[in-house]
Amino acid sequence: MTIPQRVFSGIQPSGVPTLGNYLGAIRNWVALQDRHECLFCIVDLHAVTVFQPPAQLIAQTREMAAALLACGLSPEKCVLFVQSHVPAHAQLGWLFNCIARIGWLNRMTQFKDKAGKDREAASAGLYVYPNLMAADILLYHATLVPVGDDQRQHLELANDIAQKFNHDYGVQFFPPIQPLIQGVAARVMSLRDGTKKMSKSDPSDQSRINLNDDNDAIAFKIRRAKTDPEPLPDDPAGLEGRPEARNLVGIMAAITDDLPENVLRAHGGKGFGAFKEELTEALVAHLSPIRERMNRLLRDPAALDAALHVGAEKAEALALPILARTMEIMGFLPRR
Ligand code: AMP
Ligand code: TRP
Repeated sequence: MTIPQRVFSGIQPSGVPTLGNYLGAIRNWVALQDRHECLFCIVDLHAVTVFQPPAQLIAQTREMAAALLACGLSPEKCVLFVQSHVPAHAQLGWLFNCIARIGWLNRMTQFKDKAGKDREAASAGLYVYPNLMAADILLYHATLVPVGDDQRQHLELANDIAQKFNHDYGVQFFPPIQPLIQGVAARVMSLRDGTKKMSKSDPSDQSRINLNDDNDAIAFKIRRAKTDPEPLPDDPAGLEGRPEARNLVGIMAAITDDLPENVLRAHGGKGFGAFKEELTEALVAHLSPIRERMNRLLRDPAALDAALHVGAEKAEALALPILARTMEIMGFLPRR
């Protein structure tokens, strides 16, 4: 008998989701909700590890909810909720701050990237970010975590925390978790620099396609996307050392549900001008219905908030017994 696997994933409300979020994460979530019990979380506590203007955080949290629903997440099929609505995340996060070792956190490349040169000026929250992420997942005993490639190291740390907890307290309580990193688009790169990942928090809007970009913006950004002067190669080997070309081919493959080899078989030898036009067409066909649904949902914030309320209730009902048992294992005096 196979044990049913619970799925958990999270996304920060730090901007409108990008094509990278969509192809690397959200699209896989939509497929998973038909096959598994799934929880998808808008991780606002993670977002504030970097300063968020309050009005903007509220707006972006609703925008993220609208985007996720517009992409096809269904409140009937999955639990969609906001992290701060379930305080147990922060509580288990604190307990994990006391399990994780400083040496483990010092190895996290995302902290090094996000903190930049002036590490002393980063928030303490940014440093312990991976502990909260481990709490998000383990609070539900979720075992499958669909993410983009950039989150692999954080999931290894979550497993280290689970193991150390089990070992220190002599229990088999937290299960091992398995990353689910799928597809040719596990890493969509910036349109301005093929060596950097496409990010919703990149200062340059030109570097990404946002899920609410209109068709003209999509066309403009693809036309302006950085490329090299060579025509497209006939096979993937010819993409070696050409990160921008590889990225556009990868996007075309992902958005048309095809393989890079087939994209190159069809377009090899063409210049980027012609290829970019076809890429724009494919992107517009796929993304414009999502944008329209998203805009429609945003016109009714009360309905969005109500859907998130239902999600939080369901999530909390699953989380509370696991938090309580964790605290019991650790020896906290129960409140009577
Ligand atoms: P974030 O934007 O950091 O909140 O990430 C949310 C999800 O999208 C995570 O699963 C990331 O791994 C994924 N993701 C973010 N950026 C990209 C990208 N450029 N390519 C592929 N996946 C991405
Ligand atoms: N750190 C993830 C990111 O930036 C977001 C996240 C927070 C997450 N908690 C999670 C992803 C739990 C998966 C599971 O992409």
